[in-house]
Amino acid sequence: MNTTTSTAYDTTEQITQEVLRRYEQTPDPRLREIMLSLVRHLHAFAKDVRLTSEEWLFAMKALEETGRWCAPGRNEFIIFSDALGLSMLTVTQDYRRPAGATEPTLLGPFLLEGAPRFEMGADISAGAQGTPLHAQGRVLDLQGQPVAHAVIDVWHSDDRGLYDVQDGFEENGAWARGQLTTGADGRWRFWSVMPVDYPIPQDGTAIEMLRATTGRSMRPAHLHFRIVAQGQRPLVTHIFDRQSQVLHDDAVFGVRPSLVADFVRHPAGTAPDGRVMGAAFCTLDYDFVMAPA
Ligand code: BEZ
Ligand code: FE
Repeated sequence: MNTTTSTAYDTTEQITQEVLRRYEQTPDPRLREIMLSLVRHLHAFAKDVRLTSEEWLFAMKALEETGRWCAPGRNEFIIFSDALGLSMLTVTQDYRRPAGATEPTLLGPFLLEGAPRFEMGADISAGAQGTPLHAQGRVLDLQGQPVAHAVIDVWHSDDRGLYDVQDGFEENGAWARGQLTTGADGRWRFWSVMPVDYPIPQDGTAIEMLRATTGRSMRPAHLHFRIVAQGQRPLVTHIFDRQSQVLHDDAVFGVRPSLVADFVRHPAGTAPDGRVMGAAFCTLDYDFVMAPA
């Protein structure tokens, strides 16, 4: 009897065909579709660039190191996905937005589940540094009716361009982050501080990749929002500051013109809620329109 092993792996094409044959047995049809396409594209990529074992091992070690930069509130893999344009690609192809609904954008790496809850109109800055910002608006449905009981998560940078999770979160807890729930009028309102243009984290693996490639790492000043309400499609989006210097050059491709708004600069005076401000402050007005679930 001939005991020599099969020669099925002699050519790269044989390897690809053999792997595909095995994954064709995946029971779930969607998972099968995804895995077969993934194998085809991964193998084609490796052949296209004639990937060496040494290069692939370097990539595996980079992924291992990337895992070390992940914890609640910081997901380094999301930064890679954002920087490679994959986050915006999936957001765009997945979200069939009816005309008039607010455009979504990427989630980013810094969402924290279970953020502190605040009363509507409260100051969520919790000591964050920056120019005071009064932000308000409405959550509406497609018919223009207020959406009650919408749960709004908001998070953003301080005036150094840092998020709470990047700066002593264990000791200081959350700041410039909170959860608000709309009442019957669908209105939202809070005090915080102005976000600024900032570079993506300077201390992970994603920035190493960007330094070696595009050299672009800035994000335009923005507030993050996630809005969840019964009967409506969850909305993940940002509001960008029209005065940002880098609106045209977002490192993660997240800017959409409809999400750029006026953060109005004011001298000392009276704020929209009647508070008398002894120094300069900013205001923002923005209505979100939810798409039905
Ligand atoms: C953010 O918007 O918070 C963000 C997005 C991508 C990379 C880093 C930060
Ligand atoms: Fe951000």
